[in-house]
Amino acid sequence: MELKALNLSINDGVATITINRPKALNAINKDVMDELKYLFIDGGLDAHALMGVIITGSGDKAFVAGADITEFTSVTKEEGSNLSEKGHNVYNAIEAFSIPVLAAVNGFSLGGGNELAMACHIRIASENARFGQPEVNLGLIPGYAGTQRLVQLIGKGRALELLMTADMIDAPTALHYGLVTHVTSAETLMETAEKIIRKIGSKGPEAIQRTIECVNAYFDKAEDGFKKEIDLFGHMLTTDECKEGVQAFLEKRKANFRS
Ligand code: CAA
Repeated sequence: MELKALNLSINDGVATITINRPKALNAINKDVMDELKYLFIDGGLDAHALMGVIITGSGDKAFVAGADITEFTSVTKEEGSNLSEKGHNVYNAIEAFSIPVLAAVNGFSLGGGNELAMACHIRIASENARFGQPEVNLGLIPGYAGTQRLVQLIGKGRALELLMTADMIDAPTALHYGLVTHVTSAETLMETAEKIIRKIGSKGPEAIQRTIECVNAYFDKAEDGFKKEIDLFGHMLTTDECKEGVQAFLEKRKANFRS
């Protein structure tokens, strides 16, 4: 698939996806969603050939300012629910991706854009980032799982306040709430993102994949995350990856998981 709304660059195992609609503050229209689906569901990104993915926005003003509001006129209930379900499926695939996906939030992170950031495994922000779920300003509610993931990340009280007031919070507040894990200058955001991905990339790749699975299981009502961890811990002890990690420790050398 030819990418038009997204830019994809791959540098030594780290993929960077840039949402590239700066004139619309990178709002997520059908093209953006289709291209994310291609990358994360239809095999456009080869997780086995990568150590991680960074998602960011084009320009210095916005990560993503939400779903594209111009697509919200004359929509039937069924079309609206289909739009929402498609977003859920794509974002669930990002959350379940087997290598780390990090949102480098470089400005407005609003509505469906903040929901995209929340589907990523890790979020970091530049000092000018602003976060919010302003859907109620439009007489709407979040459609890409914002009512669920915001509660998971910052707790019910703070989530309900943000969802109901449509207030934006700045980067230090997002850090304080636990919505992001680091705040950097705009100039060092991507460098910091890459450093985190490369640090994770130096660990055992299957151990990282299984860690993501176990943590996601905690939030999946159909799963018993505790049981999953017990099963996967046993499995991991039998892998070549773990044999190399343990051997390296005993031999007082650095493990080499990607030879
Ligand atoms: N959809 C479509 N276009 C958008 C957009 C969006 N979500 N956000 C911004 N734009 C466009 C603006 O219309 C404007 O286009 P023009 O230059 O053609 O007029 C351009 O981007 C620049 O935006 P502004 O001039 O408004 O920039 P600003 O600095 O004055 O304000 C802002 C920035 C506060 C982010 C403001 O643009 C804004 O409030 N945007 C809408 C945010 C929003 O409501 N997001 C939620 C969308 S609904 C949703 O996401 C549902 C869901 O959960 C799936």
